[in-house]
Amino acid sequence: MLKKLPEPTTEHPIGYDLLRNPRLNKGTAFTEAERRAWGLEGLLPPATLPIELQVARRRDEIAKLDDDLQKYLVLSDLQARNETLYYAVLMSDPATYMPIVYTPTVGEACQKFGHIFREPRGIYLPISARGRLKELLGNWPEKDVRFIVVTDGERILGLGDLGAGGMGIPLGKLALYTACAGVPPQYCLPIVLDVGTNNQALLDDDLYLGMRHERLRGADYLAFVDEFVEAVQQLYPKCCIQWEDFANFNAVPILARYRDEICTFNDDVQGTAGIALAGIFAALRLTKQKLVDQRFLFLGAGSAATGIAELISLAMAREGMDLAAARSRNALFDINGLVVTSRTDLADFQKPFAKDVTPVSTFVEAVRALRPTGIIGVSTVPKLFNREVIQAMAEINERPIIFPYSNPTSRSECTAEEAYRWSDGRAVFASGSPFPAVEIAGRRFVPGQGNNVYIFPAMGMAVFATEATHVTEEMFIVAAKAVAEQVTEENLAVGLIYPPQSRILDVSLHVAERIATYIFDQGLARVSRPQEIGALIRSCVYRPVYAG
Ligand code: NAI
Repeated sequence: MLKKLPEPTTEHPIGYDLLRNPRLNKGTAFTEAERRAWGLEGLLPPATLPIELQVARRRDEIAKLDDDLQKYLVLSDLQARNETLYYAVLMSDPATYMPIVYTPTVGEACQKFGHIFREPRGIYLPISARGRLKELLGNWPEKDVRFIVVTDGERILGLGDLGAGGMGIPLGKLALYTACAGVPPQYCLPIVLDVGTNNQALLDDDLYLGMRHERLRGADYLAFVDEFVEAVQQLYPKCCIQWEDFANFNAVPILARYRDEICTFNDDVQGTAGIALAGIFAALRLTKQKLVDQRFLFLGAGSAATGIAELISLAMAREGMDLAAARSRNALFDINGLVVTSRTDLADFQKPFAKDVTPVSTFVEAVRALRPTGIIGVSTVPKLFNREVIQAMAEINERPIIFPYSNPTSRSECTAEEAYRWSDGRAVFASGSPFPAVEIAGRRFVPGQGNNVYIFPAMGMAVFATEATHVTEEMFIVAAKAVAEQVTEENLAVGLIYPPQSRILDVSLHVAERIATYIFDQGLARVSRPQEIGALIRSCVYRPVYAG
């Protein structure tokens, strides 16, 4: 006869069930009284350690490893065992742990997903469950989900199609929502929409864990995404959906389809534009100029370039400029030269930025012809901001803005050292990938990294605290301004135009407060306006301390 399964209980788990519950587990920090009350005596070694010592132990273990993927796994196992301690470690030194739980290490974790798989986390929605997505989502143990990061795994960082292995991205990104802005982890849900993969190496790998067929495309794909959105709306009506690492040809239409309907945003498109605009606002504090007096020339005319150019244009329009005039201050230069109206190869999203001028085929000629105050590299091609380009920018401008944003470091359009050296130390510099500090003629320059992490966790916290109905473009302009405000005079003195990552929680809470204020002002909140919005934000912040 089959043994009867125990009835589910809502009581506090005891014994091993408690030690196996990552949200309640305190490991060696359980006190003697707790051990007695919850049947833990004998199951743990006798000593009781404070969380500070537990954090020190894990930090020490991680520091001794010389392989980043191993560090990732130590942290990932810790998350599965003791969530409070996991966040206590991350939040003890975000600048050190962010590159392990997110880029660049998470890329390798996604590539090797099937080979390093341990504890399941998040929800997998395979195309084979079409018609039953609500049922699968209902298996998630939390009933009040406020934040979903979802990917279909098709364009994972710069690594391409990693299928179900893309789950590492929502997992890592949500860890940053908590570690960098205090969004409580119990409200966060990582999801993969598994519609197959076109990555042959994965299809041939016995350990691949996703659907083993080609990607679904077209109307069926969109219907699947529709079913997902509908199911989320029904189960979690206060939930914000953040789309992540979809291929461009899906990301843009998906965002357009839902942005006015539900609370949603795409960090690759909108967060990127926000962080670039933040860099510009801070750069203007150094150059003492106005945004409406700037002219930007982009190297690259893809999704990053057009997304940034559009947000800059909207920000210029917000400062009183006509939108068409604002767009004309943002010029694009791609693989076929300057984006001009006479070109016949332009996509619709590039046309608003096409200039009615004679075609120009080299970037330095474009610099000389358009006399930009800033150049922004989003071409994926290294070294194109060469000495001639930087020197031309330095001839035209007292303080030329030079932002090589292509990632990773090997793709950067120039290095920090090149920009400072070739401009005689006058460049206002920031890059997509980090560069070390540079010393030239006895002067020290600290380059900033335009990392979206200054924007998206704060956006998440503001939306969570206010239960916002929508995420608008304006909210990214507000966020950009709030990030730039956090750059201190000391930072500016060494050329640093983004706040140091070590201050990320404080910075994010300030940014969240600004965004939340805007949400209340615009009537987009679903909670009533408090007297002090900062206090509301602080009251929502997750702190990694054990429950009493
Ligand atoms: P994309 O593929 O959509 O666009 C690339 C553009 O560069 C295309 O317009 C192409 O014509 C142009 N291009 C290629 N070779 C060129 C050449 N030799 N000369 C002039 N133009 C050339 O790529 P996407 O998504 O726009 O990303 C571009 C880069 O920006 C990537 O390296 C990405 O990592 C980086 N990026 C950085 C971010 C950050 O630091 N926060 C955020 C988003 C993107």
